[in-house]
Amino acid sequence: MQRKHKEKKMKPTRKDEYDYLMEQIPFPIPTSPFIKISELVKDFEIGEYIVRAVDNVELLIREHEYIAIIGESGAGKTTLLHLLAGLDKPTAGAIYLSHINIIPMDYETLATYRIFNVGLVFQNYNLISSLTAVENVMFPMQLCQIPLNECESKANELLEQVGLTARAEHLPFQLSAGEQQRVAIARALALDPPIILADEPTANLDKKNAEFIGELFERFQSEGKTIVVATHDEKLIKHAHRILVMAEGKIISDKQVTEISFRDNDGETDGIDEVSKSEEVKKIDEAL
Ligand SMILES: Nc1ncnc2c1ncn2[C@@H]1O[C@H](COP(=O)(O)OP(=O)(O)OP(=O)(O)O)[C@@H](O)[C@H]1O
Ligand SMILES: [Mg+2]
Repeated sequence: MQRKHKEKKMKPTRKDEYDYLMEQIPFPIPTSPFIKISELVKDFEIGEYIVRAVDNVELLIREHEYIAIIGESGAGKTTLLHLLAGLDKPTAGAIYLSHINIIPMDYETLATYRIFNVGLVFQNYNLISSLTAVENVMFPMQLCQIPLNECESKANELLEQVGLTARAEHLPFQLSAGEQQRVAIARALALDPPIILADEPTANLDKKNAEFIGELFERFQSEGKTIVVATHDEKLIKHAHRILVMAEGKIISDKQVTEISFRDNDGETDGIDEVSKSEEVKKIDEAL
Protein backbone atom coordinates (compact mmCIF):
# COMPACT_ATOMS: atom_id res chain seq x y z
CA MET A 1 0.00 0.00 0.00
CA GLN A 2 1.29 3.40 -0.94
CA ARG A 3 1.58 5.79 1.90
CA LYS A 4 -0.02 9.12 1.32
CA HIS A 5 2.53 11.84 1.66
CA LYS A 6 1.15 14.74 3.53
CA GLU A 7 2.55 17.98 2.27
CA LYS A 8 3.62 20.35 4.96
CA LYS A 9 2.09 23.74 4.47
CA MET A 10 4.76 26.37 4.73
CA LYS A 11 4.22 30.00 5.45
CA PRO A 12 5.34 32.01 2.39
CA THR A 13 8.67 33.69 2.93
CA ARG A 14 9.58 37.21 1.80
CA LYS A 15 11.44 35.61 -1.11
CA ASP A 16 8.31 33.64 -2.17
CA GLU A 17 6.30 36.83 -2.04
CA TYR A 18 8.94 38.65 -4.07
CA ASP A 19 9.10 35.83 -6.65
CA TYR A 20 5.31 35.80 -6.87
CA LEU A 21 5.24 39.56 -7.40
CA MET A 22 7.94 39.39 -10.05
CA GLU A 23 5.87 36.76 -11.87
CA GLN A 24 2.91 39.12 -11.94
CA ILE A 25 4.81 42.17 -13.13
CA PRO A 26 5.51 42.14 -16.84
CA PHE A 27 9.14 43.40 -16.52
CA PRO A 28 11.21 42.48 -18.29
CA ILE A 29 8.65 41.42 -20.87
CA PRO A 30 8.84 37.63 -20.76
CA THR A 31 8.14 36.79 -24.38
CA SER A 32 9.24 38.31 -27.65
CA PRO A 33 8.59 42.03 -28.05
CA PHE A 34 5.61 42.28 -30.25
CA ILE A 35 4.07 45.72 -30.48
CA LYS A 36 0.54 46.40 -31.50
CA ILE A 37 -0.66 49.97 -31.83
CA SER A 38 -4.40 50.33 -31.95
CA GLU A 39 -6.49 53.41 -32.84
CA LEU A 40 -3.79 55.67 -31.46
CA VAL A 41 -4.57 59.37 -31.31
CA LYS A 42 -2.54 62.22 -29.84
CA ASP A 43 -3.96 65.73 -29.73
CA PHE A 44 -2.05 68.75 -28.51
CA GLU A 45 -4.20 71.59 -27.28
CA ILE A 46 -2.74 75.05 -27.62
CA GLY A 47 -5.32 77.60 -26.55
CA GLU A 48 -8.29 77.17 -28.84
CA TYR A 49 -6.34 75.10 -31.32
CA ILE A 50 -6.03 71.36 -31.35
CA VAL A 51 -3.22 69.76 -33.33
CA ARG A 52 -3.83 66.10 -34.07
CA ALA A 53 -0.21 64.92 -34.18
CA VAL A 54 -1.08 61.20 -34.36
CA ASP A 55 -4.31 60.39 -36.09
CA ASN A 56 -5.81 56.94 -35.61
CA VAL A 57 -2.66 54.95 -36.16
CA GLU A 58 -2.92 51.17 -36.44
CA LEU A 59 0.37 49.33 -36.58
CA LEU A 60 1.85 45.96 -35.88
CA ILE A 61 5.58 45.73 -35.26
CA ARG A 62 7.06 42.28 -35.45
CA GLU A 63 10.01 41.04 -33.46
CA HIS A 64 13.41 41.71 -35.12
CA GLU A 65 11.94 44.20 -37.56
CA TYR A 66 13.91 47.25 -38.61
CA ILE A 67 11.38 49.96 -39.42
CA ALA A 68 12.18 53.38 -40.82
CA ILE A 69 9.53 56.05 -40.34
CA ILE A 70 9.82 58.85 -42.85
CA GLY A 71 7.66 61.84 -43.66
CA GLU A 72 7.71 65.60 -43.84
CA SER A 73 8.44 67.80 -40.86
CA GLY A 74 5.40 67.91 -38.56
CA ALA A 75 4.07 64.55 -39.82
CA GLY A 76 3.99 63.10 -36.30
CA LYS A 77 7.08 60.84 -36.28
CA THR A 78 8.54 62.11 -33.01
CA THR A 79 5.15 62.10 -31.31
CA LEU A 80 4.58 58.49 -32.32
CA LEU A 81 8.02 57.45 -31.04
CA HIS A 82 7.42 59.26 -27.73
CA LEU A 83 4.13 57.42 -27.28
CA LEU A 84 5.82 54.12 -28.06
CA ALA A 85 8.52 54.89 -25.52
CA GLY A 86 5.95 55.74 -22.87
CA LEU A 87 7.32 59.29 -22.62
CA ASP A 88 3.92 60.73 -23.32
CA LYS A 89 0.30 59.58 -23.05
CA PRO A 90 -2.03 59.40 -26.04
CA THR A 91 -5.43 61.06 -26.17
CA ALA A 92 -6.93 57.71 -27.17
CA GLY A 93 -5.92 54.23 -28.21
CA ALA A 94 -3.71 51.45 -26.98
CA ILE A 95 -0.13 50.21 -27.32
CA TYR A 96 0.37 46.55 -26.53
CA LEU A 97 3.77 45.14 -25.88
CA SER A 98 3.56 41.35 -25.84
CA HIS A 99 -0.20 41.71 -25.27
CA ILE A 100 0.19 44.11 -22.34
CA ASN A 101 -1.36 47.52 -22.83
CA ILE A 102 1.16 50.10 -21.58
CA ILE A 103 -1.22 53.06 -21.80
CA PRO A 104 -3.00 52.64 -18.45
CA MET A 105 0.37 52.37 -16.64
CA ASP A 106 1.30 55.29 -14.41
CA TYR A 107 4.50 57.21 -15.24
CA GLU A 108 6.54 55.35 -12.64
CA THR A 109 5.57 51.97 -14.08
CA LEU A 110 6.19 53.31 -17.56
CA ALA A 111 9.70 54.32 -16.50
CA THR A 112 10.32 50.72 -15.45
CA TYR A 113 8.85 49.56 -18.75
CA ARG A 114 11.30 51.79 -20.58
CA ILE A 115 14.33 50.76 -18.59
CA PHE A 116 13.88 47.08 -19.36
CA ASN A 117 12.39 47.18 -22.82
CA VAL A 118 13.36 50.25 -24.75
CA GLY A 119 16.67 51.84 -25.67
CA LEU A 120 16.16 55.46 -26.71
CA VAL A 121 18.40 57.41 -29.05
CA PHE A 122 17.65 61.07 -29.71
CA GLN A 123 18.88 63.58 -32.26
CA ASN A 124 20.62 65.67 -29.60
CA TYR A 125 22.18 62.72 -27.70
CA ASN A 126 20.92 63.78 -24.23
CA LEU A 127 24.17 62.85 -22.47
CA ILE A 128 24.75 64.02 -18.91
CA SER A 129 27.35 66.75 -19.34
CA SER A 130 29.09 66.24 -15.99
CA LEU A 131 29.63 62.50 -16.54
CA THR A 132 32.35 60.91 -18.66
CA ALA A 133 31.48 58.66 -21.60
CA VAL A 134 31.84 55.50 -19.52
CA GLU A 135 29.84 57.00 -16.63
CA ASN A 136 27.04 57.98 -19.02
CA VAL A 137 26.82 54.38 -20.23
CA MET A 138 26.95 53.08 -16.65
CA PHE A 139 24.15 55.38 -15.55
CA PRO A 140 21.07 53.23 -16.44
CA MET A 141 22.75 50.17 -14.94
CA GLN A 142 23.44 52.04 -11.72
CA LEU A 143 19.78 53.07 -11.59
CA CYS A 144 19.01 49.34 -11.53
CA GLN A 145 21.52 48.85 -8.72
CA ILE A 146 23.77 46.57 -10.71
CA PRO A 147 27.11 46.21 -8.85
CA LEU A 148 29.58 48.92 -9.81
CA ASN A 149 32.27 46.63 -11.23
CA GLU A 150 29.68 44.91 -13.46
CA CYS A 151 28.40 48.31 -14.65
CA GLU A 152 31.91 49.39 -15.47
CA SER A 153 32.95 46.31 -17.39
CA LYS A 154 29.66 46.22 -19.36
CA ALA A 155 29.97 49.95 -20.15
CA ASN A 156 33.54 49.48 -21.40
CA GLU A 157 32.42 46.52 -23.50
CA LEU A 158 29.66 48.65 -25.08
CA LEU A 159 32.03 51.54 -25.73
CA GLU A 160 34.33 49.07 -27.47
CA GLN A 161 31.41 47.91 -29.66
CA VAL A 162 30.79 51.48 -30.80
CA GLY A 163 34.53 52.06 -31.34
CA LEU A 164 35.11 54.44 -28.42
CA THR A 165 37.42 52.63 -26.03
CA ALA A 166 39.95 55.46 -26.31
CA ARG A 167 37.30 58.06 -25.37
CA ALA A 168 35.90 56.38 -22.23
CA GLU A 169 37.15 59.07 -19.85
CA HIS A 170 36.13 62.03 -22.01
CA LEU A 171 33.34 64.36 -20.98
CA PRO A 172 30.63 64.99 -23.61
CA PHE A 173 32.05 68.41 -24.56
CA GLN A 174 35.38 66.71 -25.31
CA LEU A 175 33.71 64.43 -27.87
CA SER A 176 32.72 65.04 -31.48
CA ALA A 177 29.04 64.94 -32.44
CA GLY A 178 29.40 61.44 -33.90
CA GLU A 179 31.23 60.23 -30.81
CA GLN A 180 28.54 61.67 -28.52
CA GLN A 181 25.87 59.89 -30.51
CA ARG A 182 27.82 56.63 -30.27
CA VAL A 183 28.03 57.05 -26.47
CA ALA A 184 24.26 57.64 -26.45
CA ILE A 185 23.77 54.43 -28.46
CA ALA A 186 26.02 52.49 -26.07
CA ARG A 187 23.94 53.88 -23.18
CA ALA A 188 20.72 52.85 -24.93
CA LEU A 189 22.07 49.28 -25.03
CA ALA A 190 23.24 49.21 -21.41
CA LEU A 191 20.37 47.07 -20.14
CA ASP A 192 20.16 45.06 -23.35
CA PRO A 193 16.62 46.19 -24.26
CA PRO A 194 14.84 44.23 -27.01
CA ILE A 195 13.62 47.41 -28.71
CA ILE A 196 15.58 50.44 -29.91
CA LEU A 197 13.66 53.62 -30.73
CA ALA A 198 15.67 56.31 -32.44
CA ASP A 199 14.58 59.79 -33.47
CA GLU A 200 16.68 61.27 -36.28
CA PRO A 201 19.86 59.87 -34.73
CA THR A 202 22.07 61.00 -37.61
CA ALA A 203 20.57 64.46 -38.16
CA ASN A 204 23.61 66.26 -36.72
CA LEU A 205 26.24 63.92 -38.09
CA ASP A 206 28.52 63.86 -41.08
CA LYS A 207 28.27 61.16 -43.74
CA LYS A 208 30.95 58.91 -42.24
CA ASN A 209 29.42 58.89 -38.76
CA ALA A 210 25.93 58.43 -40.19
CA GLU A 211 27.20 55.40 -42.16
CA PHE A 212 28.76 54.01 -38.99
CA ILE A 213 25.48 54.36 -37.07
CA GLY A 214 23.56 52.79 -39.95
CA GLU A 215 25.92 49.81 -39.77
CA LEU A 216 25.60 49.62 -35.98
CA PHE A 217 21.81 49.51 -36.20
CA GLU A 218 22.01 46.86 -38.87
CA ARG A 219 24.25 44.79 -36.63
CA PHE A 220 21.96 45.20 -33.60
CA GLN A 221 18.99 44.14 -35.70
CA SER A 222 20.83 41.08 -37.00
CA GLU A 223 21.60 40.19 -33.39
CA GLY A 224 17.89 40.16 -32.60
CA LYS A 225 16.84 43.70 -31.66
CA THR A 226 13.71 45.38 -32.99
CA ILE A 227 14.52 48.81 -34.36
CA VAL A 228 12.18 51.70 -35.12
CA VAL A 229 13.88 54.82 -36.41
CA ALA A 230 12.41 58.13 -37.55
CA THR A 231 14.79 59.46 -40.15
CA HIS A 232 15.29 61.21 -43.46
CA ASP A 233 18.70 59.66 -43.84
CA GLU A 234 19.17 57.23 -46.71
CA LYS A 235 22.12 55.71 -44.80
CA LEU A 236 19.68 54.46 -42.16
CA ILE A 237 16.71 53.82 -44.45
CA LYS A 238 18.72 51.49 -46.66
CA HIS A 239 19.04 48.97 -43.80
CA ALA A 240 15.29 48.92 -43.01
CA HIS A 241 12.99 45.99 -43.78
CA ARG A 242 9.95 48.13 -43.75
CA ILE A 243 9.31 51.78 -44.52
CA LEU A 244 6.40 53.70 -43.09
CA VAL A 245 5.51 57.08 -44.47
CA MET A 246 3.65 59.46 -42.17
CA ALA A 247 1.71 62.56 -43.18
CA GLU A 248 -0.54 64.67 -40.97
CA GLY A 249 -0.43 62.12 -38.19
CA LYS A 250 -1.43 59.17 -40.35
CA ILE A 251 0.54 56.31 -41.81
CA ILE A 252 -0.06 56.81 -45.52
CA SER A 253 2.24 54.09 -46.77
CA ASP A 254 3.56 50.90 -45.18
CA LYS A 255 5.93 48.91 -47.35
CA GLN A 256 7.85 45.79 -46.61
CA VAL A 257 11.02 46.21 -48.63
CA THR A 258 12.88 43.09 -47.61
CA GLU A 259 12.42 39.98 -45.51
CA ILE A 260 13.61 40.11 -41.92
CA SER A 261 16.76 38.18 -41.20
CA PHE A 262 18.51 37.82 -37.89
CA ARG A 263 20.85 35.44 -36.15
CA ASP A 264 19.17 32.91 -33.89
CA ASN A 265 20.66 31.89 -30.59
CA ASP A 266 22.33 29.07 -32.50
CA GLY A 267 24.12 31.63 -34.67
CA GLU A 268 22.25 30.59 -37.81
CA THR A 269 20.91 33.30 -40.08
CA ASP A 270 17.21 32.97 -40.83
CA GLY A 271 14.95 34.14 -43.60
CA ILE A 272 17.23 36.05 -45.93
CA ASP A 273 15.62 37.43 -49.04
CA GLU A 274 17.85 39.60 -51.15
CA VAL A 275 15.19 41.97 -52.45
CA SER A 276 16.75 45.22 -53.56
CA LYS A 277 15.55 48.05 -51.35
CA SER A 278 17.06 51.01 -53.05
CA GLU A 279 14.45 51.20 -55.82
CA GLU A 280 11.58 51.21 -53.29
CA VAL A 281 13.31 53.81 -51.14
CA LYS A 282 13.87 56.01 -54.20
CA LYS A 283 10.19 55.77 -55.18
CA ILE A 284 9.07 56.72 -51.67
CA ASP A 285 11.54 59.62 -51.54
CA GLU A 286 10.20 60.89 -54.86
CA ALA A 287 6.61 60.62 -53.61
CA LEU A 288 7.35 62.87 -50.63
N1 LIG B 1 4.36 69.54 -27.27
C1 LIG B 1 3.66 69.94 -28.33
N2 LIG B 1 2.69 70.87 -28.20
C2 LIG B 1 1.95 71.24 -29.26
N3 LIG B 1 2.09 70.75 -30.50
C3 LIG B 1 3.03 69.82 -30.69
C4 LIG B 1 3.87 69.36 -29.62
N4 LIG B 1 4.71 68.43 -30.10
C5 LIG B 1 4.43 68.31 -31.41
N5 LIG B 1 3.42 69.14 -31.76
C6 LIG B 1 2.81 69.28 -33.10
O1 LIG B 1 2.50 67.98 -33.54
C7 LIG B 1 2.81 67.82 -34.91
C8 LIG B 1 3.74 66.63 -35.10
O2 LIG B 1 4.99 66.95 -34.55
P1 LIG B 1 6.22 65.95 -34.53
O3 LIG B 1 7.30 66.57 -33.74
O4 LIG B 1 5.75 64.61 -34.09
O5 LIG B 1 6.60 65.88 -36.10
P2 LIG B 1 7.84 65.17 -36.81
O6 LIG B 1 7.27 64.32 -37.89
O7 LIG B 1 8.70 64.52 -35.82
O8 LIG B 1 8.58 66.41 -37.47
P3 LIG B 1 10.17 66.64 -37.73
O9 LIG B 1 10.52 65.86 -38.98
O10 LIG B 1 10.27 68.13 -37.96
O11 LIG B 1 10.91 66.20 -36.51
C9 LIG B 1 3.39 69.14 -35.38
O12 LIG B 1 2.38 69.86 -36.03
C10 LIG B 1 3.81 69.82 -34.10
O13 LIG B 1 3.71 71.22 -34.22
MG1 LIG C 1 10.67 64.81 -35.19
